Amino acid sequence: MPDELKILFIGDIVGKPGRKVFSYFIPSLIEEYKTDLVIVNMENIAGGFGITVKTYGELENLADVFTSGNHVWDKKETLENIDDMQKLLRPLNVHPSLPGRKYKILKVKGVRVLVTSLLGRVFMKPVDDPFQTIDNLLQKIEAEVKIIDFHAEATSEKEAMGWYLNGRVTAVIGTHTHVQTADEHILSKDTAYITDVGMTGSLDGILGFRKEEVIEKIVYGIPKRLETCKTNLHLNGVFIKCNLEGKAHSIERIDETMED
Ligand SMILES: [Fe+2]
Ligand SMILES: [Fe+2]
Repeated sequence: MPDELKILFIGDIVGKPGRKVFSYFIPSLIEEYKTDLVIVNMENIAGGFGITVKTYGELENLADVFTSGNHVWDKKETLENIDDMQKLLRPLNVHPSLPGRKYKILKVKGVRVLVTSLLGRVFMKPVDDPFQTIDNLLQKIEAEVKIIDFHAEATSEKEAMGWYLNGRVTAVIGTHTHVQTADEHILSKDTAYITDVGMTGSLDGILGFRKEEVIEKIVYGIPKRLETCKTNLHLNGVFIKCNLEGKAHSIERIDETMED
């Protein structure tokens, strides 16, 4: 169909193994799905925590927009350099004085595409109300297609955001929990939704990290340096199709596995 947009959204890239599996699969996925736009969550690209100038540079040319999340400021250099990272978004509902781009409007096939991301508030650090924040943005932004990365922990809050924005945005894509959920569907007013797209990294550990240290941390409550896991590498994401008015037709889960 010529009058539709094809959008690939890839879940949180975790560390070097995540960058490796992402770089391996993304060119062929773009070709296979004939994508118009690629959006990738990169909050965990640098050692699993945050973003560095170097790791951002490594992936910059492989996607159109990068979203982030609660780990966006983990590396001190991000705060100093985020304004120069042209394709990276910081979450919309953090303190307004923080640097970085809050959203992007891209022109794709003559259509304006808004991409932004919001942090949830349930079981997470306090941030501004994501519901009011997105209302305020949608009131002032003119775009046909609107893609929202909702970076949140609780399924209930994510489903609430999906239904809250039903018919007002093209897609509400959940990130942050790193486990792909099997609930992708089109809501009643043509908004594509999934609770979590999953992650891009190793599925042999816990959220992409070596399980030994995570177990010790959880069992004994002792701070531990976490290392990313290097085996059983997956790329997780969704492929969304919508019309040029921003109504979603379909959402399909993607889970690619790299041979060890
Ligand atoms: Fe993450
Ligand atoms: Fe996160």
